[in-house]
Amino acid sequence: MDTNQKPYHIPVLLEEVVEFLALKPGGFYVDCTFGGGGHTRALLEREPQCSVVALDWDTVALEKNGEPLKEIYGERLTLLWGNFSQVDKHLKKNGFDLVDGVLADFGTSQYQIFERPGFSFTYDSPLDMRMSPAHQKTTAGEVVNKATEDTLYEIFTYLGQERYARKIARALVGERVDRPIRTTGQLARLVEGVVGGKGGRRIHPATQIFQALRMYVNKELENINGFLAAAVRVLKPGGRLVCISFHSLEDRIVKQFFNQQKLHGFKVVTEKVVVPTQEEIAQNPASRSAKLRVLEKCV
Ligand SMILES: C[S@@+](CC[C@H](N)C(=O)[O-])C[C@H]1O[C@@H](n2cnc3c(N)ncnc32)[C@H](O)[C@@H]1O
Repeated sequence: MDTNQKPYHIPVLLEEVVEFLALKPGGFYVDCTFGGGGHTRALLEREPQCSVVALDWDTVALEKNGEPLKEIYGERLTLLWGNFSQVDKHLKKNGFDLVDGVLADFGTSQYQIFERPGFSFTYDSPLDMRMSPAHQKTTAGEVVNKATEDTLYEIFTYLGQERYARKIARALVGERVDRPIRTTGQLARLVEGVVGGKGGRRIHPATQIFQALRMYVNKELENINGFLAAAVRVLKPGGRLVCISFHSLEDRIVKQFFNQQKLHGFKVVTEKVVVPTQEEIAQNPASRSAKLRVLEKCV
């Protein structure tokens, strides 16, 4: 094995996920965001008599990371391809009933952001950003070249919380008249030109624009809404739903949904949101904005 190879993804809040799912012998769990398989693997390892259905809509994640785990865990692991907003339908279609726990670790894997063409400005590639091209028809390239200035402004402001949203949207619309924006590098340079160097930030000036486009292209917030409604339908009494968010809008959706569910036979296990320890953040800086919340279906 090449030891210099970057890990596909480092799972965040791993111990907390295992603890809050309260694994039990014979338990049946769904990991709705399989990714690098770090959480799935921990569940299978920590409770040798449990089974896991692991779902992802990214075929690359399932192929790269799913098959090696299948070789170790055999029938205890079932891999499913699909959108988590329909997790209830995917389970039913594959002959599964109610489950003891559901996990979702929203957003993208480190592999998707840094290694997959079309996502990142770390190297130049055609602007795409679809996690599952079978589920999304519109690419980020189509959005930046076709959306109106006002739509781009809304995307950058709402999903990216970008201070210079209007200036960037206007510059994009002006640029594309003569030169369509085709690559991640071209977009990043244009944003840099508008903001001027780093614009006083610690991160690359295009980071929030890229995040906003990715969330828009993949309908990330809409899918979380669908997922939450579907997830509570598949829980057994006593079963738990564990959600990890990275973006404040994601966390707000989860928090509000969990609070509403208190009226429908659920209790919020994490009245205070759970965040990574300083030690975890030092080891894996990508975990710094993670927020974990847990809901339990009352018996
Ligand atoms: C943060 S990563 C999960 C990492 C994983 N927990 C691990 O330990 O490696 C998020 C994963 O969710 C997947 N994903 C995002 N939106 C999805 C959706 N609507 N349906 C299914 N999978 C989705 C992505 O393809 C990605 O692999």
